[in-house]
Amino acid sequence: MINTELQEIKRDMAKTGSVTKVTTHVLQEMKLKGVKIAMLTAYDFSMARLLDRAGIDIILVGDSASNVMAGHTSTLPITLDQMIYHASSVVRGVSRALVVVDMPFGTYQGNWKEALQSAIRIMKESGADAVKLEGGIEVIESVERILSAGIPVMGHLGLTPQSIHKFGTYVVRATDEIEARKLVDDSRLLEKAGCFSLVLEKIPAKLGEEVARNAKIPVIGIGAGGHVDGQVLVLHDMLGITTEFSPRFLRRYLNLSDEIIHSVERYISDVKLLDFPNEREQY
Ligand code: KIV
Repeated sequence: MINTELQEIKRDMAKTGSVTKVTTHVLQEMKLKGVKIAMLTAYDFSMARLLDRAGIDIILVGDSASNVMAGHTSTLPITLDQMIYHASSVVRGVSRALVVVDMPFGTYQGNWKEALQSAIRIMKESGADAVKLEGGIEVIESVERILSAGIPVMGHLGLTPQSIHKFGTYVVRATDEIEARKLVDDSRLLEKAGCFSLVLEKIPAKLGEEVARNAKIPVIGIGAGGHVDGQVLVLHDMLGITTEFSPRFLRRYLNLSDEIIHSVERYISDVKLLDFPNEREQY
């Protein structure tokens, strides 16, 4: 199934020189057909272009940029202007994937007017396709207002990193009955409000399966098991650029930190030993 889908994308590119853009409608069809959705984060033009060429369905300009790009210990410090900068860089590198942008902490929780203004700025100034925000009933009015302005919204439940100071820990969420029921209720509420998709982070696989089975919209998991409609990972984690973060749900596809360090070590040595540049590398 995956290979067939990728072959279709490549045929599309070869025939027309362009590709069919992934829209919220396409994602809905993928859910109906049982085609899994692949989503990754990106924060810059070059990486976004590579992910798009590889055939990724959704690129999330995550507020994890706060950690992996800016070196903060949480997602809280990143600003709206910084998210717009990352998002507009990503958009310039993408022709097929749907680009979703995280609304940063403090730009939508206060009141719906501020939320709407923030979402409009993201869409207008970055050219992205949709926004994502964390929470259920607490933010439902903001979600509804953003949707009524015609902006597609992706929800995010379970471990919501912007609330890390409330949780106090990054352990698995919704393991008890009360939190699990609230998550199920919130997922229904977000779907009913009109969200086009939902991210579930670090929850028991059985709960992820239950939510995805009952939802008509695609449910994308990160540490929510294999029975949801798609998966998302933070790019720097799956490429092994970050090394200190190793939750069970993370599969590393590369050890890029070692590759980069070895390449830089070779470069330093070549410069110091007068091996670079050689005769052919100069004018
Ligand atoms: O910011 C982010 O990278 C995210 C993913 C973990 C889903 O929200």
